[in-house]
Amino acid sequence: MPEKEVEKTIDALLQERRTFEPPKEFTEQANASDPAIYEEAERDPEGWWESQAERLDWFERWDTVLEQDPPWHKWFVGGKLNASYNCLDRHLESHGDRVAYHWVGEPGETRDVSYRELHEEVSRLANALKDLGVAKGDRVAIYMPMIPELPAAMLACARIGAPHSVVFGGFSAESLRDRINDAECKVLITADGGYRKGNVVPLKDNADEALESTESIEKVVVVQRTDEDVNMVEGRDVVYSEIVQAASADCPAEPMDAEDILYILYTSGTTGKPKGIVHTTGGYLTGVASTHHYIFDIKPESDVYWCAADIGWVTGHSYIVYGPLVNGCTSILYEGAPDHPDKDRWWSIIEDHRATILYTAPTAIRSCMKWGVDYPQKHDLSSLRVLGSVGEPINPEAWIWYQEFIGGGKTPVVDTWWQTETGQIVISALPGLTTLKPGSATKPFPGSFADVVDESGEPVGPGGGGYLVLKRPVPAMFRTIFNDADRYVETYFERFGNDVYFPGDGAKLDDDGYYWLLGRVDDVMNIAGHRISTYEVESALVDHPDVAEAAVVGRVDPKEGETIVAFCTVKSGVEGDDDLMQELRGHVAKVIGKLARPHSIIFTDDLPKTRSGKIMRRLLRDVATGQELGDVSTLQNAPILDAIKAKASSQAADDE
Ligand code: PRX
Repeated sequence: MPEKEVEKTIDALLQERRTFEPPKEFTEQANASDPAIYEEAERDPEGWWESQAERLDWFERWDTVLEQDPPWHKWFVGGKLNASYNCLDRHLESHGDRVAYHWVGEPGETRDVSYRELHEEVSRLANALKDLGVAKGDRVAIYMPMIPELPAAMLACARIGAPHSVVFGGFSAESLRDRINDAECKVLITADGGYRKGNVVPLKDNADEALESTESIEKVVVVQRTDEDVNMVEGRDVVYSEIVQAASADCPAEPMDAEDILYILYTSGTTGKPKGIVHTTGGYLTGVASTHHYIFDIKPESDVYWCAADIGWVTGHSYIVYGPLVNGCTSILYEGAPDHPDKDRWWSIIEDHRATILYTAPTAIRSCMKWGVDYPQKHDLSSLRVLGSVGEPINPEAWIWYQEFIGGGKTPVVDTWWQTETGQIVISALPGLTTLKPGSATKPFPGSFADVVDESGEPVGPGGGGYLVLKRPVPAMFRTIFNDADRYVETYFERFGNDVYFPGDGAKLDDDGYYWLLGRVDDVMNIAGHRISTYEVESALVDHPDVAEAAVVGRVDPKEGETIVAFCTVKSGVEGDDDLMQELRGHVAKVIGKLARPHSIIFTDDLPKTRSGKIMRRLLRDVATGQELGDVSTLQNAPILDAIKAKASSQAADDE
């Protein structure tokens, strides 16, 4: 992020100076109520994580807690366990009838799935997958709506030791294809469709298009969710319910090595090719179970926890599926949009199920703010006792609104910083211990070691700003990039050395040592809490036959979040008009997915370039955010900027 924007963001953050002590009654009942937890973990991080690994059931205990050869690290070496066993089997005896998921479909149907029922479904599906030829180590792609069959599919893979690769249902056929090919998945589990804002998302049609150019897929399992007529390919496609019913419910969980791959999840980097983030089993489950327990203060017997993310992202993997199920907790799983059929859908779900914990993203909170307080106020939200935020910096105004109107002015709000790569929350308040400052993710979780450093890797100290780094791995941290170990090292460990992980975020430390996250410092945008690289969107735009060149920047507004602005030059004879803008937006949706559509597209005769021909995105970012232009001395075509500025401001006027 350019310096000016950093200053602006910090100014906005610091305008809110109120702090919030943990309520005494909360601390008295909190899972973390003694501040000594921080000192203990700092003194002996391995001992601390070892104590957290005791939360799991192990078939064989580990020999070594942490084995490091930076940047490589292994946790709980020699230990054997199974993720599906930890999520299901071990709960059966004492609380098998507890609800694992209160599922709510967008059209209105509901289904409660108990741990026992989920265990049976997972066991049957796991056997069915084996019959389809899936063996330990084979990758399985999953492209599904938010229905109970989605966690079941993940756990069935985990049960037999087949790493899953979940692809978010909002991604296009092309994105699905690339991810399937990169991981060479053998089987795809999908659905006929899913519901979103009253429409059917044609998942099977997309999947069929993707599968035209995937050589590795042998079988496709199709859940009948919408019961629409879909194409079923003879010999390749099978119906989920049929194979599950036909399979035996007896499927012992495969003992997996702590370091065996549990899943791959793709995330955007600064190049066009998404990175397959590799998570393993023992450390990952330890990290997510521990953070989930302490940060959300989970009481499995009484809480009704709701993480409103999509399972297609890491938030859903760690805090809808693995963390909550390992902890034996009852969750809400909602299929659809927050404003369908009306803008109070979330609040009515919370009221119906007496939800006690809500975990969502600032972008969703800001939408709710725009819709107005009447919607939450129509409902009894008094059951809520902890609120969480994730995915992007939360502006203090949204934080306060969230606490006031959703949390009844009483609940702790935990702002949790982490990434697909870290697998688990790394910086967050503990709700019974931490004095909260709206806009700050507060402090590293016990056993996590962060810092803020300058260009040369020197700590900036309290009051300084710079780059966030992690000085020790946390157990859920990824192990590598699938099939690309070099990229793992180059992307994360080249900047500050092999033993310092660089997550790509800027941060500021205040005088109390609180962390204030400032957003990405690379060409990765954070759109509604989802990572998209400028390069990916540019590639999608120039893929259109009318576009000659494209540059994409994120326009950051501390109150609005980040939106995508594209600058395009068109080929000769083509008119850069509204029709083309709509067409290009549609084209990006087709190539990547709707989430990557530019908010605005500015057509220009040329792009600002250095003498060596490099596009100066920094200046385009200044134009997009309406700031004064930075240094233009290295530009070869400075006059073009005036023309771009004029176009951008006339377009902004049209928008109004
Ligand atoms: O820039 C940070 C931002 O989201 C990035 C990680 O994105 P992803 O891997 O998609 O995972 C999102 C959900 C964990 C980070 O590099 N980010 C995430 N949480 C926060 C955040 N920025 C500020 N505050 C947060 N709480």
